[in-house]
Amino acid sequence: MNKSLKWKMAGTYTFIILATLLFFSWMILTSLENHYIESREKAYLTHANIIGGTGQEMLLSGDRNSFYFARDYGDKIDARVLMLNSNGKVIMDSFGEAWLEGRLIKHKEVNSALAGESSAGVHQLKDGKHVLYITAPVLNHQQVQGIVMLVTSLEDIYNTLEQVRGQVILLSFLVGITAVLLSMFLAGVLTKPVQELTTGVEKMTRGEFGVRVPVRSKDEMGRMASAFNTMSSKLERVEKARREFIANVSHEFKSPLGSIKALAQSLLNSREDDPEVYREFLSDIDLETDRLSRLADELMYLVRLEEKGVELKRQEVSVLSLVEHVLSLLQSKAQAQNVELKEDVPEDIKHSLDADLMVRILFNLIDNAIKYSPPRGGIVLVQAREASGDLVLRVQDNGEGITGDDIPYLFNRFYRADKARSRETGGSGLGLSIVKQAVQLHGGVINVESSNKKTVFEITIPKA
Ligand SMILES: Nc1ncnc2c1ncn2[C@@H]1O[C@H](COP(=O)(O)OP(=O)(O)O)[C@@H](O)[C@H]1O
Ligand SMILES: [Mg+2]
Repeated sequence: MNKSLKWKMAGTYTFIILATLLFFSWMILTSLENHYIESREKAYLTHANIIGGTGQEMLLSGDRNSFYFARDYGDKIDARVLMLNSNGKVIMDSFGEAWLEGRLIKHKEVNSALAGESSAGVHQLKDGKHVLYITAPVLNHQQVQGIVMLVTSLEDIYNTLEQVRGQVILLSFLVGITAVLLSMFLAGVLTKPVQELTTGVEKMTRGEFGVRVPVRSKDEMGRMASAFNTMSSKLERVEKARREFIANVSHEFKSPLGSIKALAQSLLNSREDDPEVYREFLSDIDLETDRLSRLADELMYLVRLEEKGVELKRQEVSVLSLVEHVLSLLQSKAQAQNVELKEDVPEDIKHSLDADLMVRILFNLIDNAIKYSPPRGGIVLVQAREASGDLVLRVQDNGEGITGDDIPYLFNRFYRADKARSRETGGSGLGLSIVKQAVQLHGGVINVESSNKKTVFEITIPKA
């Protein structure tokens, strides 16, 4: 593709340059020729008129001696002088033995002079030489008495033109060669980025992501190259994220599956016939299965949220009733872990929210707060307030806190600060990712602040 583009370009350039060159050479040569011939014509027409002015008497007298003037004049201006009578018959010829005398001449220049008009014309002789015919009428009382005809060689002009033509051809040839070389070079330079880009795109089509092409300029080509690079690195990131995601998902599914397998196998291998033991093992299997299905559900929900597959159904809801609803869902869990649940939500706050999503958000945050509360004296506080139309929700606990190292990754899928602990509490590490997506779907933001004995998640949701 590159080859042909390059050659197409080089060919076009060369063609344009050569055509222009040819055209201008032709123009220059033609106008040079016209210029030379016209000035020669002018000069000889004057000569013809001068001879014609004196020729009046000669023609009328018919005295051969009186032709001497014409002959002499002709010699001086390198022209053959002919005098013709009013019938077009030669009565004097300055050339050699006057061999045209007595003959009729029928050139168009003669005819036009007979009609009273001076005339000039270039003729090529049989030997290829160029001559100029000039005729001027000799008038007496407006009557054409005869004609003066000058014949002069144009060889000097045509020789000069020939020389100029030779030089022009040589010059055109040199310029032409330079132009061809330059076009090829230029086409190469111009098509190089296209070639690189094409190679890049081809590589990408084959699944090589993260390909870079050099950005060589700031023009459209350069912009295209840098846009390509951006696209390529985005694709690379997407591809990397996709691989990581698959790896993570498989990893997450593996451990509950491993537990189930181990439990089932130990039951199969045991000679135990106490139904209680079976029951215990089966209930463990049941738990692991729940965990798996929760994981699958959360994963699917998160993917839908991320792909904007969840439609936001906003309606005016009382924030207090929302909080109370979630707290009631988690009450027994809190009690089991000796955590006290508190709320500080004004009764009158209403906000336009998607109730389902808000329940998920609050459930995840409060659930985490309970999970990561201290074994004794845990207090989880849920607060809400309105600030210039925005709804601000805070979930605070007095647990172990989150270290600054973990905070940037907290909202990543499957991220857990304390791997062992949170898996033991049954967490998938997807909760906060879902929370963040759900908050963003509301056009809001989420922030975390954490110190040793305190963690606060704060959500700000603007007016709809
Ligand atoms: N209130 C909290 N206090 C301490 N750590 C927390 C708190 N909330 C979340 N985390 C940390 O953030 C991680 C991610 O939370 P989340 O996405 O909800 O996953 P999960 O709860 O399933 O472990 C948790 O594993 C935990 O390490
Ligand atoms: Mg969680």
